[in-house]
Amino acid sequence: MSSGIFVLFVAAAATAFFKFYSRRCSRLPLPPGPRSKFFTGNLHQLPKKEPVWTYATWAERYGPIFSFRVPNRQFIVLSSLKSATDLLDSRATTYSDRPKLWMVELAKQNLNVFNISFTHPYFKTYRTVLKNSLSTRTIQTYQSLQTEQCRVLIDSLHKDPEHFAGHITRCRNTAAVVLYLAYGWKVIESGDYWIDFLQEALEFSAIISKPGRWLVEVMPLLRFLPSWFPGAGFKRVAFDIGKKLSRFDGTPFNWTKQQIQSGNYAHSFVSEQLLPGDGSTVSAQQEDIIAWCSQGIYGAGVDTTASSLTSFILAMMLYPEVQKRAQAEIDAVVGRDQFPAFKDREKLPYIGALIQELLRWAPVAPEGVPHCTMREDVYEGYRIPKGSIVISNILSISRDKEMYPDPLEFRPERFIGPSPQTDPRKFVFGFGGRRCPGLHFAEALLYLNISCILAAFTIVKQLDEMGEEITPPVEFENVGPLWHPKPFKCRFIPRNKDLLATVSQ
Ligand code: HEM
Repeated sequence: MSSGIFVLFVAAAATAFFKFYSRRCSRLPLPPGPRSKFFTGNLHQLPKKEPVWTYATWAERYGPIFSFRVPNRQFIVLSSLKSATDLLDSRATTYSDRPKLWMVELAKQNLNVFNISFTHPYFKTYRTVLKNSLSTRTIQTYQSLQTEQCRVLIDSLHKDPEHFAGHITRCRNTAAVVLYLAYGWKVIESGDYWIDFLQEALEFSAIISKPGRWLVEVMPLLRFLPSWFPGAGFKRVAFDIGKKLSRFDGTPFNWTKQQIQSGNYAHSFVSEQLLPGDGSTVSAQQEDIIAWCSQGIYGAGVDTTASSLTSFILAMMLYPEVQKRAQAEIDAVVGRDQFPAFKDREKLPYIGALIQELLRWAPVAPEGVPHCTMREDVYEGYRIPKGSIVISNILSISRDKEMYPDPLEFRPERFIGPSPQTDPRKFVFGFGGRRCPGLHFAEALLYLNISCILAAFTIVKQLDEMGEEITPPVEFENVGPLWHPKPFKCRFIPRNKDLLATVSQ
């Protein structure tokens, strides 16, 4: 047989096999799941808020991989570490797309780092740029800024402990650090102009991507209605928010550009990208990519780390013995007369374990960020259709009793000793081609703030009028896809007044 005929023969056999295989695939069942209605699927069983609890209940009933349907969307939920890593990590080229959100498209936000399609030509560049600028080596450039902002936080907690949650989030620490990281903008006082400005942009983005809010996501043909048409109000909302966001998009980026032109700029993600080491010029397209990535860093970096730090305060108040052990480690390694620094990180293994436990006990994104399949797949005898929305049920994974006995207990000891339990960093930062590129930065920020807060204060419960301790319940609420502890009260008892005097402004 000539080689040409042989190639034709192999191609024909491969096509026949592929056809047979796809036919076989489509006959395979979907993963099990709740019984659905003909038109509306499982819509009637899904709560308006916090579907993560429904996913947890369904995971117990239907197992580590289950499916459900709403009109026009097939959902697959992965509730075990094995199923999530088998699919999202090992088959990343099939599972790393994002579902198309029509409201996001209408608002022209589809190039946003979170929403961009895996197949878009910008995607690979985004990931490379973010990976390099947030690598363990590069983020060391921001250590002095992180240290400075950490001191500001300690001072605020000392002088105004009642508003600790606000100090952690908007007014201070995380927003200030991430704003500097992204744009080189230094926050001097609370009520900062850019923080308020960007916060508003995040709120607009949350409105258009809110699951279940917009009918056009269920009936995509509605997007062709003219915006004046009765019932097409969603289109006017999308255009309006899109217009506002386009004003936000470039603004902080343009500020940094002007600073660079004036020669008076701080090192930041944007300055690093706009001034490549090899002296090459940056094209308009590259500028566009840098602007989207810097906005993504701000959007992804602020509320995530703030959520973890607030959960840390809650955990320390509820688990005083953990707090004591962590403080004893800091006192022994660093001493009581100075704050822990980045150079001490390796010498504080209990603090490292405490951070792992924090990420597990209060996962910041309990249902991850949805992925979408780019082709049909088969897993453990089940069919995963092309275009399915795949949810990583991080909450159920983090509470898997096999991996974490007594999962509701805050116990850093899990990760210490000869046979530590599974490292939660395998799943809390997401999976595959969309895994969080900011994880090293996030962990560094958590390390510094947690160790310095423990060196400065003992966190205890608030007292009622009778002098009795108030124990708040461990409850979280969704803010967009993120989880934050519900508001609670506590007290910060200074451990060393002289040490606190060193940060007083
Ligand atoms: C405790 C802190 C953090 C946690 C738990 C966290 C977790 C996550 C998770 C679960 C995802 C979705 C991954 C997926 O789709 O599978 C994500 C995406 C992302 N994170 Fe983080 N994150 C944190 C902090 C940060 C920080 C500080 C930054 C930036 C400085 C950052 C930047 C990003 C970006 C840009 C994405 C989008 C990636 C993409 O869609 O391709 N994150 N993060």
